[in-house]
Amino acid sequence: MSETNTAVSSVMPTYSRFPISIAKGEGSYVWDADGKQYLDYTAGIATCNLGHAPPTVKEAVKEQLDTIWHCSNLYRIPVQEQLAELLTAHTFADQVFFANSGAEANEAAIKLARSYAQKVKGTTGFEVVTFSQSFHGRTLATLAATGQEKIQKYFAPLVKGFRHLPYNDVEALDELIGPDTCGVLLELVQGEGGVIPADPAWVKEVERLCKEHDVLFMLDEVQTGVGRTGTLYAYEQYELEPDVLTTAKGLASGIPIGAMLATGKAAAAFEAGSHGSTFGGNPVAAAAGKSTLEVIANPQFLVEVQETADYFRSELENIAAASSAFTDVRGKGLLIGLGTTGKAIDLVNQARDLGLLVLVAGEHVLRILPPLNTNKAEVDFCIETLKQIAGE
Ligand SMILES: Cc1ncc(COP(=O)(O)O)c(C=O)c1O
Repeated sequence: MSETNTAVSSVMPTYSRFPISIAKGEGSYVWDADGKQYLDYTAGIATCNLGHAPPTVKEAVKEQLDTIWHCSNLYRIPVQEQLAELLTAHTFADQVFFANSGAEANEAAIKLARSYAQKVKGTTGFEVVTFSQSFHGRTLATLAATGQEKIQKYFAPLVKGFRHLPYNDVEALDELIGPDTCGVLLELVQGEGGVIPADPAWVKEVERLCKEHDVLFMLDEVQTGVGRTGTLYAYEQYELEPDVLTTAKGLASGIPIGAMLATGKAAAAFEAGSHGSTFGGNPVAAAAGKSTLEVIANPQFLVEVQETADYFRSELENIAAASSAFTDVRGKGLLIGLGTTGKAIDLVNQARDLGLLVLVAGEHVLRILPPLNTNKAEVDFCIETLKQIAGE
């Protein structure tokens, strides 16, 4: 497919793109350039959590465009501060650093962990421990943090200071904290790595060891965050107390944004000049983030997400039990993985022909990421389509 891209477009072919052009999006649907409608259960990979062009967010962005589009972070930006207040009011965090993407939020976390060890604790600590099959981004530091060789291939030498341990392996935790360790970074559901939830007992032990050694316990909630798993952030379900959390994707409903949330104790490792970004927390992105969070952080909204997820999952369990095409249902909330016996990409292509967009997460997992405000009729369409491609 990349050859086709090179032939038809001047965009560098770094994505293996599906052969449709998306021309329009509204609610749970997108339309291709030929006017064909698709139920979009990819949500921009867990980004359009309120569907495409949600009216309240659109209104907030329009209002912001009429006020001010951009302002340097050398000045106070009221809407950015309001978004930070919302994030801290609804989470463990005391302070927020704004960036533009998930990778950048993780870069900030890695820098904060090093600075916490070196500036606050006065050690030479620099190493961040991450896990096999993790995904933390594509910048040089975050691809080194990522526990997948295919992401790192041809980019040697890798940034130093990352050590990978097996995910969900309690026995390997003997090696969690070494003399140079300054932080541990993990996903509570590995999204790109196959939709694998963290084992609660394992992650509790990781947290305990981090606290015991005063090493930053950092959660990458770039994919699991902003209501995706049925709570505002997945750590709430695990009853964890992170020092740092990174969030991006769904935070501004598709307007680029990233954020690193931290406790006051961890945040003290940064001071004026430690880190920065021209666009981080830009007024338009912050306005989109604020209006998104005002909807998603509402407890009633999250109850409804969980109800939709329960219904969806039980229907998927039925298909998995009845069909030899599917093996199991995994994930949390509306971050859903469906194990497949054949190649998942073949099912993705068949579903698209039938008007349903879904993704893969590895060779044998379909990844289904509906907008959080999807409805029963849409879920039923997805279920019927999956039954059809499974030959039921
Ligand atoms: C868990 C996780 N971390 C980080 C990233 C990188 O985010 P971005 O593509 O916004 O840089 C992703 C993207 O898929 C992700 O799923």
